Amino acid sequence: MFLLALFILASQTVTGLPYHQRSVLWNTLAGIPISPRQEHATVALEDSVYILGGVVPDPSNTSIYLTTDLVQRYNIREDTWNTLASMPIALNHVNAATVDGKLYVLGALAVASDGAWRATTEASFVYDPSEDAWDVLGSIPIEHARGSASVGVHGTSVHLAGGMRILHAVQGGEQDTVDTVSIYDTLTDTWTSAPGAAAALPEGRNHACSAVVNQTFFVIGGRTEGQVNVKDTVFTLDLEDPAAGWSTRSSRMPTARGGLACGTVENAVYTFGGEGNPANGSKGVFDQVEKYDTLADRWTELAPMPTPVHGTYAAAVSNAIYVPGGGISIGGAAISTLQVLAV
Ligand SMILES: *[C@@H]1O[C@H](CO)[C@@H](O)[C@H](O)[C@H]1NC(C)=O
Ligand SMILES: *[C@@H]1O[C@H](CO)[C@@H](O)[C@H](O)[C@H]1NC(C)=O
Ligand SMILES: *[C@@H]1O[C@H](CO)[C@@H](O)[C@H](O)[C@H]1NC(C)=O
Repeated sequence: MFLLALFILASQTVTGLPYHQRSVLWNTLAGIPISPRQEHATVALEDSVYILGGVVPDPSNTSIYLTTDLVQRYNIREDTWNTLASMPIALNHVNAATVDGKLYVLGALAVASDGAWRATTEASFVYDPSEDAWDVLGSIPIEHARGSASVGVHGTSVHLAGGMRILHAVQGGEQDTVDTVSIYDTLTDTWTSAPGAAAALPEGRNHACSAVVNQTFFVIGGRTEGQVNVKDTVFTLDLEDPAAGWSTRSSRMPTARGGLACGTVENAVYTFGGEGNPANGSKGVFDQVEKYDTLADRWTELAPMPTPVHGTYAAAVSNAIYVPGGGISIGGAAISTLQVLAV
């Protein structure tokens, strides 16, 4: 019923486009309450979409961004939001995953004494939705601590690829990137490096987007140091045979982008928006929606996002992909809008 309504409402927005662009349908759902939001994590679990941490504009001066511990849940059936138990500490660029009905936070950036956002070894906790409570996990070994990593779940393990350890959000502020690939074991609460050649990405990436399809972990696009150093690569790791190491797909994403979001439906990864667009009038944000067929290794360009954003993640539930919040200009300008694409 919900999806039918979505289909009817959203079909208005795509008329007049070439046939291949008509297969995707956008709509806007209930917006994020309390505050606009960006640089949060987004994960789906059952009939809900959760957003964790991120940055919110300071109500007394919206050009200043405050890091938050806020966790909110969107109920897909009811089109409503509610506020959950906060994370133990305020974090942005949060690495999050769902395993066995629980939400894991496995690394992020936090505000350091010099005002820069830096990796913290304490960003490691698990949320149980049935209790609305967080448990603190063991500290992250320093060599595995970072935010803005690509995250891929395999059974009870979480793979984290790339990321960054510092982002100083001032003009010309320092930013780094890492090629580290880590595995977190949810059963033993331990961190290890990925085996053999899998321990490093072919090149460092942060602000990439990621997917797991058919036991293969995809790391798509992203950037090296700084917003404009955007990439178009598709790196893959066979999670059944990680020691074989990373491969690079021959097809490139049509538009190199970092800070993009993506959602996976069946064998296709849909990539949305991103940051570092040099075109005048773009406010530094990409509006591209590009679909990657992981089996055919083929990209298709789709109709642009209604509200182009960067600095958010997307989450798919059945054939709908939810894109909550994000920023509408390079750096800041967070919004509350929840955009959804039916595919
Ligand atoms: C808001 O913050 C920005 C960035 O720190 C600063 O440049 C600006 O002067 C502030 N505006 C007000 C009204 O305080
Ligand atoms: C999954 O991957 C295997 C091995 O690469 C391949 O043989 C199979 O066709 C794939 N199946 C699907 C549904 O993608
Ligand atoms: C944007 O405008 C500036 C100033 O006119 C120009 O120098 C620059 O080449 C333009 N960039 C692009 C990508 O069009």
